[in-house]
Amino acid sequence: MNKPIGIFDSGIGGTSIWKEVIKLLPNEDTIYLADSKHAPYGEKSPKEILELSIKNTELLLSKGCKVIIVACNTATTNAIDYLRANYSIPFIGIEPAIKPAALLSKTGAIGILATKGTLSSELFEKTAAAYTKNITTIEQEGEGLVPLIESGLLNSSELTNLLETYLKPMLQFNIDHLVLGCTHYPYLIPQIKKIIGEHIVIIDSGAAVAKQTKAILEKNKLLSLRTNAGQHQFYTNINTIVLSKMLHNVSVKLSVEKLKF
Ligand code: DGL
Repeated sequence: MNKPIGIFDSGIGGTSIWKEVIKLLPNEDTIYLADSKHAPYGEKSPKEILELSIKNTELLLSKGCKVIIVACNTATTNAIDYLRANYSIPFIGIEPAIKPAALLSKTGAIGILATKGTLSSELFEKTAAAYTKNITTIEQEGEGLVPLIESGLLNSSELTNLLETYLKPMLQFNIDHLVLGCTHYPYLIPQIKKIIGEHIVIIDSGAAVAKQTKAILEKNKLLSLRTNAGQHQFYTNINTIVLSKMLHNVSVKLSVEKLKF
């Protein structure tokens, strides 16, 4: 079915997921909403996160999307149950990858860096309780990181200082896995590695979400019938500069536009 896959995030972070999706599904059309105007979602109440998720969903549906990827841990953990119960199309979400980290850990200690909205959600608590019984889990809110990433300040000393404050204490617990529980954070991997070293495994869920999207499309007979490359439309509700910068090294054709939402 040649309808687009819809993707939304509180801003540019979900592009880390989008990149994995088009790598695996190059013939699919996509529409991406970067709700940067309302970022960070992670500092908002569950009710506000739900309202924003509904707004994004309605817009993607009005553009004819056949499935929606909630490319935001904060929106998934706070809103996906509601979205699945109230809309008839399939939703694919992203949650911090606690399970693989806990299963693979040899030191018995893992770190999780995520937003306050994710760490305080019921869904996160349920998953953590199910998989980390015999594991020391160091949960850390990444307060302040998303606004800096949204401003394009990836290499600023302010960002490095915040990362050091958040990650250095985890090293004392001898973690061997660090779960990135926010789709903005994969863009910080070079900076994170400088602080924690190369021996700690960093886990993000982008590739897993792409695989799950493919499986859902197959199962629902929704795969694109195109044989040529898909088309990609990005919408942001602030200026297009930072979003375009995140996509500058992508080889597929795409367009970035400003839209009110
Ligand atoms: N990128 C989002 C996530 O995965 C949300 C970041 C935010 O807006 O706080 O959680």
